[in-house]
Amino acid sequence: MQIAAITDHTGADVRGLDLSAPVGEAARQALRAAFVDHHVLAIRDQSLSPSQLLQAVTLLGEIFPQHNTRFALPECPQIHYLSNQDHFPDGRRYIPGEGWHTDHSNDVRPPMATALHAVKLPSRGGDTQFANMAQAYDALPDSTKARIAPLMAIHVYQSSHSARKLMGLSEVNKERVPNAVLHPLVRTHPESGRKSIYVNPIRIEGLLGLDHKEALPLLGELLEHATQPRFQYRHVWRHGDLVIWDNRCLLHKANGDYDMTEVRYLYRVMLQGDVPR
Ligand SMILES: [Fe+2]
Repeated sequence: MQIAAITDHTGADVRGLDLSAPVGEAARQALRAAFVDHHVLAIRDQSLSPSQLLQAVTLLGEIFPQHNTRFALPECPQIHYLSNQDHFPDGRRYIPGEGWHTDHSNDVRPPMATALHAVKLPSRGGDTQFANMAQAYDALPDSTKARIAPLMAIHVYQSSHSARKLMGLSEVNKERVPNAVLHPLVRTHPESGRKSIYVNPIRIEGLLGLDHKEALPLLGELLEHATQPRFQYRHVWRHGDLVIWDNRCLLHKANGDYDMTEVRYLYRVMLQGDVPR
């Protein structure tokens, strides 16, 4: 197995690994360490069935139950799919993952990691962008670090301030998804110890104790700062890619910039995280 950094802060290519076969303990530990060091692993040349994918990702952690079971694969419900062939009830096309976000931050223990495995890709476009929130935090002026240090953000399933609308939850799903949770605006990575900015424009409804007039411009400034190109890695998908990333220190976004007559279909699975601190 070869692991090679893609940028100097985010992303590594992993080659020479076949996840459809058993993986030894040394390789598992090397993958786990690379995941924490590089935040995004692009494991190349895989061809995994849903159950093989499940087995592969559980090398790195426990499965996180996703909130909207509408996208679960019937034959393997812990795995969901992302597809550009879905539509909102009003007929508009649903492009999952557009706009900067971190997955399921409205959970008490949001997923540590998300993994996507490309099943069908458009001939061009549909890249996934990642922004490194630890790099972004380090680059903040000290005055901003001091200002945001004590702040707590209120995360909900769908922020009323978000331009992007999510697919609604069924009544059964609503019962098991919290109405709102509080997470710090600056979180410390439980493994690396690095601090990062923890924002999420589709989920954050407000900042505890701050008026919207103050909170929304601050959140907007933090997002603009944190998603500058210098903090980004842009993943160009290839057939066979299994990409797994660390939600504890990254934002990500999909791009609906390709020919929508072409199918883009990926399997998605998440790993359990801990309470952000
Ligand atoms: Fe996402």
